[in-house]
Amino acid sequence: MTDLRFDGRTAIVTGSGGNPSLGRAHAMLLASRGAQVVVNDIGSDPEMRNYPGTASAETVADEIRAAGGRAVADTNSVATPEGGQAIISTALDAFGSVDILVNNAAISVGAPFEVMTPHDFQRHIDVNLMGAVWCCQAAWPHMQAKGYGRIVNTTSSSMTGFADHAAYATSKGALWSLTRCLAAEGAPQGIKVNAISPGAFTRMACATLEDDSPLLQHSKAKLPAELSSPAVAYLSHEDCPVNGECIDSVGGVVQRTYMSRTTGFTETALTIETVAERWDEVMDQVGAETIGIGDMDTSEWKIRPYEAAR
Ligand SMILES: NC(=O)c1ccc[n+]([C@@H]2O[C@H](COP(=O)([O-])OP(=O)(O)OC[C@H]3O[C@@H](n4cnc5c(N)ncnc54)[C@H](O)[C@@H]3O)[C@@H](O)[C@H]2O)c1
Repeated sequence: MTDLRFDGRTAIVTGSGGNPSLGRAHAMLLASRGAQVVVNDIGSDPEMRNYPGTASAETVADEIRAAGGRAVADTNSVATPEGGQAIISTALDAFGSVDILVNNAAISVGAPFEVMTPHDFQRHIDVNLMGAVWCCQAAWPHMQAKGYGRIVNTTSSSMTGFADHAAYATSKGALWSLTRCLAAEGAPQGIKVNAISPGAFTRMACATLEDDSPLLQHSKAKLPAELSSPAVAYLSHEDCPVNGECIDSVGGVVQRTYMSRTTGFTETALTIETVAERWDEVMDQVGAETIGIGDMDTSEWKIRPYEAAR
């Protein structure tokens, strides 16, 4: 197979200034295949605990340029609408377009649900979810005008339900739903929106796991960030064959996480007891269908015209 390249494409990778980090690995791979890259990172979230060192967008951009690639650094925060706009402007000013957006920036603090403060919970939503919303919303009109775009949102396997991860996982699960909705809206406009569920030894892993954590030791030994990036790059490529999918890419293992619905049963004289009696049919996975985006015909819905709240 000939190399998949990104010549002439502009890619933004948010939160890509750390080393080691997933964002850096994605940015370096895309640049090595011809993309001009915006390396975005605020350096360090002032409220995060236990993060080793500081990320530097400029350092990663320098690394890319030193290797013969094209890159600029950007230090705006994804967590505000203005920050999202500024990041997209950096791409437009430097390279004149935005073709690929990898929403990778995030924060993570683990805690039992009852002890996490409202502030810490809200911050996961503001950075991990709304950060992607603001960057997508700023990039969207440019992708629409071009009739082309690739967006990759970074979810996490925690969204499937991990104890002590409610805030982080909620932000990632919502990001998965955002991915599906934008995939449905983007499809007729040449914009594909997918999700990546990575895993790697990074500053975030060091900050969230105890030094003697077996998982941290495993990720240090077996999960270099670079092994998550080829799947991200494929989802970012013109040839990307899917839309609205979540691809897991950890340590060289590439898989698909998907939504599915069982056949269940239909009973119009439904009672609580019918549900109880026929529960096995509700749960039976034989014949279950994968739920694709756009499977439901919404053309007859006739959504009311939007009026912005004042
Ligand atoms: N490391 C893993 O095993 C793992 C597993 C699942 C998902 N993820 C996800 O992968 C992505 C990359 O994480 P990582 O492990 O490389 O961690 P990381 O901490 O090295 O990378 C995240 C980067 O985002 C930056 N950042 C934080 N807030 C920002 C903001 N407001 N604006 C711009 N940048 C900001 C940080 O400075 C940091 O450099 C994250 O979305 C993370 O949730 C990581």
